[in-house]
Amino acid sequence: MNHWFSPRPRERVEELFGRETEVRRLVNALESNSWVAVLGPRMAGKTSLAISSSKEFAKRHGHSVVYIDLRSSTTLREATERILRNLPKGVLRKVGTYLSTIKVKGFEIRLKPSASASGALEEALRNLKKTVIILDEVQKVREGLPQFLNALTVTFNENPELLIVFSGSYAGLMKKLFSQTYSEGLYARQPIEITLNPWERDVAERFLRKGLNECGVKIPEKELEDVFWELGTLPGWLSAYGLRRCLGDEHLKALYRVSESAVKEAKHELENLLEGRSLSAPMVMKLLSYGATWSELEGTGIQKGLFIPSWMPS
Ligand SMILES: Nc1ncnc2c1ncn2[C@@H]1O[C@H](COP(=O)(O)OP(=O)(O)OP(=O)(O)O)[C@@H](O)[C@H]1O
Ligand SMILES: [Mg+2]
Repeated sequence: MNHWFSPRPRERVEELFGRETEVRRLVNALESNSWVAVLGPRMAGKTSLAISSSKEFAKRHGHSVVYIDLRSSTTLREATERILRNLPKGVLRKVGTYLSTIKVKGFEIRLKPSASASGALEEALRNLKKTVIILDEVQKVREGLPQFLNALTVTFNENPELLIVFSGSYAGLMKKLFSQTYSEGLYARQPIEITLNPWERDVAERFLRKGLNECGVKIPEKELEDVFWELGTLPGWLSAYGLRRCLGDEHLKALYRVSESAVKEAKHELENLLEGRSLSAPMVMKLLSYGATWSELEGTGIQKGLFIPSWMPS
């Protein structure tokens, strides 16, 4: 069994490779009572960093960690219901008047149609004891996001035992998160941003070599070059490649399968970024710096002349 490469997010700081600085920053930010936002491209290890560092902080200070995946919550109501499902029973009892169904084991928690979602959220969070709450993929909440953030701000101000870590893909997250609240007369706090970049090449090489060595796969220099050329140095893609190799895939097959998924994800991200707004050249440049090729950008329907200076290479 291979434990080095895992398809799941890491939950302990000891399992995180090459992210010591980021762990320290996140723990320090929590210790100084700040809001934190973990940002980065797909597969950079955002969820892993958020969970493992929060757990490390929690272990040192006697907190609990509540992880909420908001990937499929597009409204404030859905997000609130999902958060409530993950809170201790004692807290749920305090918001009983807002709920129509409670079936904690089967996660059947629903707000009454007439109940205010932000009211329920505020009441629940106000009653949380020594808790770090991780809101992952928070940018997916499209309807009521400013009210959502406002409810978090209000309870964060009232409850000194509540800490909040946001995480999500960089595409539009920060902008959505905080500029919107100002324009609506609400004032969410600015978080400390921790951006996860691709690994330096030598870190990526050590990660891959160590894991492959553990499962007895020898990787020639040429194959290693292929991997970095094709996949770059984001932990998630390297981990996916490594796992396939350890499970018996040949180099080219593993590389092909993983790069197929990587391109799909990159396109998806780009579509999110482009949705409903015009794009500035600096944003495109940033994207390109994460490794998108022009043909991949073009495949999503944007036109070169509109956003990118003509001197940029194809
Ligand atoms: N520092 C690390 N060391 C080792 N493996 C890592 C590290 N960071 C991430 N991984 C691995 O990479 C994969 C993706 O990690 P994770 O889910 O945390 O990334 P993410 O940025 O949240 O991805 P997504 O954008 O899809 O939500 C997982 O398989 C995880 O185990
Ligand atoms: Mg994630």
